Amino acid sequence: MTGRTPSQPLKLTAGSLMLRDFEAGDTDGVLAIVGDDRVTHWLSFASRDRDEAQSMLDGILERQLDTPRCEYYLAITESASPEVVIGFVRLGLGGVKAADLGYALRPEWQGRGIARAAVSRMIEFGFGDLGLHRLTANIGPQNTASMRLVESLGFRREGTIRDHVHTNGAWRDSASFSLLEGEWQPAAE
Ligand SMILES: CC(C)(COP(=O)(O)OP(=O)(O)OC[C@H]1O[C@@H](n2cnc3c(N)ncnc32)[C@H](O)[C@@H]1OP(=O)(O)O)[C@@H](O)C(=O)NCCC(=O)NCCS
Repeated sequence: MTGRTPSQPLKLTAGSLMLRDFEAGDTDGVLAIVGDDRVTHWLSFASRDRDEAQSMLDGILERQLDTPRCEYYLAITESASPEVVIGFVRLGLGGVKAADLGYALRPEWQGRGIARAAVSRMIEFGFGDLGLHRLTANIGPQNTASMRLVESLGFRREGTIRDHVHTNGAWRDSASFSLLEGEWQPAAE
């Protein structure tokens, strides 16, 4: 234990969704995402077992306490049942007013517009509350769903990062996308 005092947990509302800081009881929710090959096939790491999911959650909880925060790793939930983690969305701060964006949903929750709503809210939080200037998203070149998602939100493709990640026993390129502060146009509801 660090003895550090947690600040007020972050909660963001996006329509019927609530994006919230992860909590100590979220191990099953984390495992349901990062333990599923259908999800991790597209991520930068192979599927994790329960102990590894627990370690991952411990790290997330630890980094929540950093001042200033360098990471916003939020659980995607429905506001009506915030204890059920259906995905995550993350901003990892680095560089000058910049952050990397990441996200994933449990397979049974995909294809319903949830990522679009959650990522939009996180972009708004990044450019608005955090005062960021530049967001990047690095995506496996075969990940059509993810590339379509960021393109539909106004991200532009910048190029290819060669052999960017080593996962599932092989190197993988990333297609690199970015969105600048002035380019963000919140969708009209
Ligand atoms: C990428 C992911 C988060 C998208 O989540 P989702 O909730 O299904 O996405 P949405 O329903 O909000 O759709 C967003 C856009 O992507 C498109 N899309 C979603 N799934 C798609 C698919 N399988 N093929 C093609 N396009 C797809 C939608 O049509 C939509 O585009 P539009 O607004 O132009 O119609 C989800 O597929 C996922 O978790 N994948 C595994 C993890 C992952 O790839 N994470 C990102 C790593 S870079």
